[in-house]
Amino acid sequence: MAAVAQLDPMLPRPYSVAQVAKENADTFTLMLQPSDGAAADSFAPGQFSMLWIFGVGELPISISGNPVDRDRLVYTVRSVGQATSSLVSRGVGDAVGVRGPFGRGWPAQQAEGRDVVVVAGGIGLAPLRPLIYEVLHHRDKYGRLVLLYGARSPRDVLFRKELAGWARQHDTQVLVTVDYGGLSWRGHVGVVTTLFKHARLEPARSVAFACGPEIMMRFVARDLGTRGFARENIYLSMERNMKCAVGFCGHCQYGPHFICKDGPVFSYERMRSLLEKYEL
Ligand SMILES: Cc1cc2nc3c(=O)[nH]c(=O)nc-3n(C[C@H](O)[C@H](O)[C@H](O)COP(=O)(O)OP(=O)(O)OC[C@H]3O[C@@H](n4cnc5c(N)ncnc54)[C@H](O)[C@@H]3O)c2cc1C
Ligand code: FES
Repeated sequence: MAAVAQLDPMLPRPYSVAQVAKENADTFTLMLQPSDGAAADSFAPGQFSMLWIFGVGELPISISGNPVDRDRLVYTVRSVGQATSSLVSRGVGDAVGVRGPFGRGWPAQQAEGRDVVVVAGGIGLAPLRPLIYEVLHHRDKYGRLVLLYGARSPRDVLFRKELAGWARQHDTQVLVTVDYGGLSWRGHVGVVTTLFKHARLEPARSVAFACGPEIMMRFVARDLGTRGFARENIYLSMERNMKCAVGFCGHCQYGPHFICKDGPVFSYERMRSLLEKYEL
């Protein structure tokens, strides 16, 4: 079945839900295993799949699991509408069709020998998590790892235990901020760019990877630029409506780019003029 799916990218491969974990009020992590018992499709950090929910529809979701795990594919999904709410309400054993993985992911090899700066907003931490696994798995290939993460409130912070575990790794700095802290929050409050002044950044020897709402990425990229990061060393993961995911239908077009096949990860150098046009 895997071979057929690879031959025809429009044909979903049958997977079933192995586990569902609640991350917060509206976000769930689903672990899917191939229904045929064979290995799961391999992927690169930053790639996405088209998940087919039978009778409902299909939607693009980034892979949030560990690339070395070949038993299953992991997705972290925020319920915002019909397709996502149906997806997160799947139970163990339910069928989900998977197309992909698609797209160009994070160019981790470009960061080898350099510091890795990861900037995430909200659910944007999910597509970046495989990159963090990759860096931690090959720790000697990279310099320092700096993770800056912004969530709406303390209750919305994703992967709390992992964040705490990553913060204990050597040569790793993890900073978390929230928009609204409440009385019991002792951490940073403010948008994610307010963390830059607390981070130990060496722009000349770093590559930055950012994912979150588009407005957040616009400010993150600009701010990193003014701090001395070269535009070609800042990478952003873009989102647009998708249908085919393989460059046929044009639904994901953004200026001259098809987000599904040219991205979703682009350098700020390539995206800057488009990102500055708010209405596109
Ligand atoms: C490459 C790619 C990777 C993605 N990865 C993930 C992921 O890892 N996890 C995840 O939860 N989502 C991810 N998304 C977004 C996800 O595909 C959409 O949230 C989903 O398609 C919405 O479908 P729906 O039917 O549930 O909502 P709809 O009924 O289409 O929309 C409901 C409401 O949510 C808003 N909305 C729709 N899409 C988005 C969006 N992308 N961001 C914010 N608000 C939106 C709509 O404006 C509307 O107000 C990704 C999208 C792309 C293109
Ligand atoms: S989704 Fe069809 S061209 Fe990108």
